Amino acid sequence: MHRPEALLVMRPDTYRLQFGAEELRRLRALAELGDPVWTDDLDTPRVRARLAETEVLLTSWGCPVLTEERLDAAPKLRAVFHCAGSVRPIVSDAVWRRDVLVTSAAEANATPVAEYTLAAIIFAGKQAHVLAAQSRLKPVDWYAVGDREDLSNYGRTIGIVGFSRIGRRVLERLRALDTAAVLVADPYADSEAVAAAGGQLVELDEVLKRSEILSLHLPELPQTRGSIGARELALLPDGATVVNTARGSVIDTAALERECASGRLNAILDVTDPEPLPADSLLPSLPNVMITPHIAGSLGTETRRMSAQALSELERFVRGEAPLDAVTREVLAVSA
Ligand SMILES: NC(=O)c1ccc[n+]([C@@H]2O[C@H](COP(=O)([O-])OP(=O)(O)OC[C@H]3O[C@@H](n4cnc5c(N)ncnc54)[C@H](O)[C@@H]3O)[C@@H](O)[C@H]2O)c1
Repeated sequence: MHRPEALLVMRPDTYRLQFGAEELRRLRALAELGDPVWTDDLDTPRVRARLAETEVLLTSWGCPVLTEERLDAAPKLRAVFHCAGSVRPIVSDAVWRRDVLVTSAAEANATPVAEYTLAAIIFAGKQAHVLAAQSRLKPVDWYAVGDREDLSNYGRTIGIVGFSRIGRRVLERLRALDTAAVLVADPYADSEAVAAAGGQLVELDEVLKRSEILSLHLPELPQTRGSIGARELALLPDGATVVNTARGSVIDTAALERECASGRLNAILDVTDPEPLPADSLLPSLPNVMITPHIAGSLGTETRRMSAQALSELERFVRGEAPLDAVTREVLAVSA
């Protein structure tokens, strides 16, 4: 077994978080680690000397873009194992022009987002965030809510936009609820795969017209920017909740603000556009809107699930096996 020369490239805090004793033990068993083991700067003479021998990079948040010039300094480079979600911040055309394997840990990063989404959907069903905000102003009487039909997680119709890694995991988790239907919109999805996951693939407009809770899991691409605009929001039934853990830009923020300010729609948002919202934005002050600061993805110990995925990819590479989650230019064109 050839143990390739490896270099870790990420911010210092990310390195400390993602590579504890267990991860470093696993890495040392698979690869040669020189000096330095880790860096966040690919341009110093000391790191350039290491790069000349480096065969694999383990990258994460804070890795500089892998430009032509930096890749020229790494002539032996054969693979980049990204220990985080999207590889967009680090790849350049130069990476695709070379025969370098790139893998991502987006599958591992999908788990906490799906968990957050399930929690958001359950809270949306009971309008927990709305009642909590109202209680801060005036105690909410149990008898005033006890006879409301709309505070329920039984027999709901849930809409999912994007049968993506996260979208698929959300569908799996929704099996835990007694939903009436889970409707999925995705121009690239296969209806049999959606059905096997417990959903029904339909057109976006039908998802919008029927969903009491709408959860967005589509990637941010030029064609998805603002794709949930005023027209789309207007199709949602009165009282529906929009859950967005994808990217703020896929929704028209002004249109969502109008719908929520009128009280017709509610929202639970982990992402906004812009992010954070300006200080004078109305959206965060609305009692029917809950905003969290982009926390659905991997945080804290969850980041080690991503390290584990990258190390499994390295293990497969060392054994000469095919990667599980290789990213190519074509894959990236429709991915997060
Ligand atoms: N809040 C967070 O912390 C957090 C963390 C991770 C990912 N995200 C975001 O979550 C979203 C989903 O991420 P992922 O890794 O599951 O994505 P992914 O890369 O797996 O998604 C790709 C899939 O999305 C679907 N898709 C593409 N265009 C679409 C469209 N116009 N309409 C519907 N579906 C479409 C296709 O099935 C495609 O295969 C992305 O926007 C991503 O940026 C957020």
